[in-house]
Amino acid sequence: MERALQAELCLVTGAGRGIGAAIARRAAAAGAAVIVAARSQDDCVAVANEIVERGGRAWPAYVDVTDPATLDQALAELEGEIARCGPIGWLVNNAGIAETAPFLRHGRGAEGDTFERHLRVNFHGPRRAIERLAPAMLERGAGRIVSVASSAGLQGYPYAAAYVASKHALVGYTRCAALELAGKGVTMNLVAPHYVDSPMTDQTVERIVKKTGRSAAETRAFLASQNPGGELVTTEDVAEVVLELLTGARNGAIAELPGGRQDGRPAVVWRS
Ligand SMILES: NC(=O)c1ccc[n+]([C@@H]2O[C@H](COP(=O)([O-])OP(=O)(O)OC[C@H]3O[C@@H](n4cnc5c(N)ncnc54)[C@H](OP(=O)(O)O)[C@@H]3O)[C@@H](O)[C@H]2O)c1
Repeated sequence: MERALQAELCLVTGAGRGIGAAIARRAAAAGAAVIVAARSQDDCVAVANEIVERGGRAWPAYVDVTDPATLDQALAELEGEIARCGPIGWLVNNAGIAETAPFLRHGRGAEGDTFERHLRVNFHGPRRAIERLAPAMLERGAGRIVSVASSAGLQGYPYAAAYVASKHALVGYTRCAALELAGKGVTMNLVAPHYVDSPMTDQTVERIVKKTGRSAAETRAFLASQNPGGELVTTEDVAEVVLELLTGARNGAIAELPGGRQDGRPAVVWRS
């Protein structure tokens, strides 16, 4: 564990807020240098600055996971930092979107096909980042890849067919890739949190409040009650489990986070 902690360079997608920001902070606190990537640069700059102010190393980067050219461009712009602190040994695929609609209406949004949009961000995004960074890890025989799936990659939720399908795709892909990576020094794992206390869930709460007239507090309590642990997962708990996977030797594991803590650590159900 300590060996892997020595100055790894870590790329976190969707790191401008929510779970990704918590992962970036946690990885930096553990000694990693972090590329804080997302589309909203104000968010990325704020997270990177906060890490630097605490004595860590971090750089913001514009990466739209649906556009592989933006990752190439970010890596080119950070060439000096990567040469100094790299190579990128840890990749965390966290960027994701979640929209809801009845399954027969999913394809008809004003912004185009909802299924395709979810697959582009939640499945092809991680797949493309892996295809860009894993070959160099394999060449070195060392690397850690963690993707943030969801309990929606393990079960269904009503009105979330596009999100659930995209997370199932990510889970299936990772299960296969991890089998192929066995024994090669590069590991690929997943975290699958239930509802997390993050801006994405704030949006879900807003949508439900608008539709049902329930209060925000009541809606939040309802979502928490849907988690097997009876409470919302915290972003810090997701980050702690991600760090465990980045610094450990597990491969092909799915860490399901039901919410709550056990023995002073995030509650986790380990699956494969
Ligand atoms: N919240 C939950 O209850 C929950 C539960 C299980 C799993 N998850 C998963 O956890 C991950 C993070 O969720 P969160 O709750 O932290 O969501 P969030 O608060 O909405 O943050 C999502 C992050 O992803 C980025 N992002 C979205 N589209 C992107 C794109 N095309 N390219 C690059 N970055 C993009 C966003 O930044 P920009 O928009 O600025 O790019 C933002 O930084 C997602 O994969 C989500 O599916 C969430």
